[in-house]
Order: sequence, then structure tokens, then C-alpha cells
Amino acid sequence: MGLLGCGAIGSEIAFAIDSGKISAKLTHIYDFSKDNSKKLVDKLQHKPVVTENVGLLAASPVDLIIEAASQDAVRDDVLSILQNRKDVMIMSVGALLDESIFDIVMDGCRDFNKRVYLPSGAIIGLDGIRAVQDELDLVTLVTTKNPKALKGAKFFETSTIDPDKITASIVIYEGSAQEAVKLFPANINVAALLSLAGIGSEKTRVKIIADPGASKNIHEIYAEGKFGKFSIKVENVPSPSNPKTSRLATLAAIECLKKICGAPLNIGT
Ligand SMILES: NC(=O)c1ccc[n+]([C@@H]2O[C@H](COP(=O)([O-])OP(=O)(O)OC[C@H]3O[C@@H](n4cnc5c(N)ncnc54)[C@H](O)[C@@H]3O)[C@@H](O)[C@H]2O)c1
Repeated sequence: MGLLGCGAIGSEIAFAIDSGKISAKLTHIYDFSKDNSKKLVDKLQHKPVVTENVGLLAASPVDLIIEAASQDAVRDDVLSILQNRKDVMIMSVGALLDESIFDIVMDGCRDFNKRVYLPSGAIIGLDGIRAVQDELDLVTLVTTKNPKALKGAKFFETSTIDPDKITASIVIYEGSAQEAVKLFPANINVAALLSLAGIGSEKTRVKIIADPGASKNIHEIYAEGKFGKFSIKVENVPSPSNPKTSRLATLAAIECLKKICGAPLNIGT
């Protein structure tokens, strides 16, 4: 396996492979921060090769490359990985709400007969959303995070709200998933997953609450349609090395990799 991005998620996945939790070998990694890739390699028992650039990672002799880097990495690198005949697991799912990127990635899968895996990330219930896809009228995601976990988002560049000055819980954004992933690219991948599994990014509604009292990343999903309705609430512990990322996102990726690597028991859709 190859790894693109050695931050919070990439490192935890690498540890899961290194410890044998996932039955695979991590042989090649790349991060544009040499520091981050070095820090990771130093902690691994089975040392992968650190490639000089992403092209060499894409061309390395692996079956699958895990993208755990950024939306830019999906836009710039996923097609080349598919062209090099590798499957890809994408974590920065928000990038796929850009229709041109989505089409390029899907065409790449078809042209080179390769697959893209999108793990469930920081939410649960995507199996249900997919099952009722044709009967859905309404999907709403309400995300509550500490302002610290939202800091640095593009949204604040044009907003009058200063994340450092939020003293009580407030709704800072309400709109479509399409717009939310652009304004909060590192925070709201779950909105992208919900859109892709359900009724699309224009119709999927998103509300973001900044709550200085929140110690967890909370996602509530409300879905309604001909099938009936359901609601789901997940209260996620943030990753210690990146408060924007929930621990569940990493665990879901590890579970997805176990399945890809042929775990004998597969539960759920
Ligand atoms: N699917 C989900 O539910 C979900 C949940 C949380 C995070 N994410 C996304 O997964 C990605 C990784 O998250 P993280 O918490 O590990 O982030 P992180 O910031 O801790 O780590 C990202 C690493 O990738 C590297 N990087 C960034 N862009 C790169 C590029 N173009 N080429 C090479 N290296 C690059 C950075 O140097 C960093 O080491 C982010 O895009 C994040 O938004 C998805």
C-alpha cells in the first residue's frame, strides 16, 4: 500500500498497518512536508520508502494508495494514481463535490478499471442513506464544533465572525453542502459523504454551530422521505494531533481497509 499524507489520519492508518491490525504492507509514503513523513517513518517498525514526489508514489509498486492529505491532493494527484493502475481510498471527500473533479475521477476509474473507496468518515448511517436514496426528500446535517476546530476555514476570510471571539454557542452557517465544503474544506467532509450517498450536494442542507463549550465534534443527521424518517447523532472525540479531525474518521478508514484487504467477515451493507 501507499500513503499520501502523513498527518493525523495517515499516521494512525500507518500504525494500524504496522501493528498488523490491517493485513497489508505499507511500502511507499509521500507528504509534501518532509518533516511529517520523517516523523512517521521514525515511529514505524516496518519502514516504508519515502518517495521524493507524488509522481513516484503514484508509480510505486502498490495496489492501493490512501489519500489522507487535502482536497488539493485529490484534485492534483488522484487521476495520476488511477492512470498508474492503483485503486485509491479518498479521505478528503469534499473535493468530489466539484463536479469536474468528480467526473475526472470517475472517468479515470472507468478508463483504467480501478476503484475509489470513500470510507464512512466521521458519521454513521451512510448505509441507511444509500438504501433509501430514491425515496429521500430531505437530508440535513447539523454539525457542532468548538470554534478552535473551525479556525482557519475559508468562511472566516469574508465573515464578520471572529472564531477567537465566540463566547456562546451560535449558528455560523446555514446553506447547501455544495457551498459548505468550499467554505469549510477541512471540517465538513461528512457533508460531502452524505451528499454523494443521498440526494446530492445542492439539496443536502448543512447547519454549522460554533460552540465554545463543545469538547466533541458533534454531527446530527436528519433524513426524511417516503420510506419514513431517521435521525442520527454522533459525538466524536477529536483526534489529539488535529482537532478538526474526529477519531471516528480514522477508525472508519481502518475498518474500510480491513474489508478491502479481505477480512473474512463483512458486516453491514
Ligand atoms: N472523510 C472524513 O470524514 C474526514 C474526516 C476528517 C478529515 N478528513 C480529511 O482527510 C484529510 C487528512 O486529514 P488529517 O486530519 O490527517 O489532516 P492533517 O492536516 O493532520 O494531515 C494532512 C497531511 O497531508 C499533507 N498534505 C496536505 N496536502 C498535501 C499534498 N497536496 N501533497 C502531499 N501532502 C499533503 C500535510 O503536510 C499533512 O502532513 C484532510 O483533507 C481532512 O479534511 C476527512
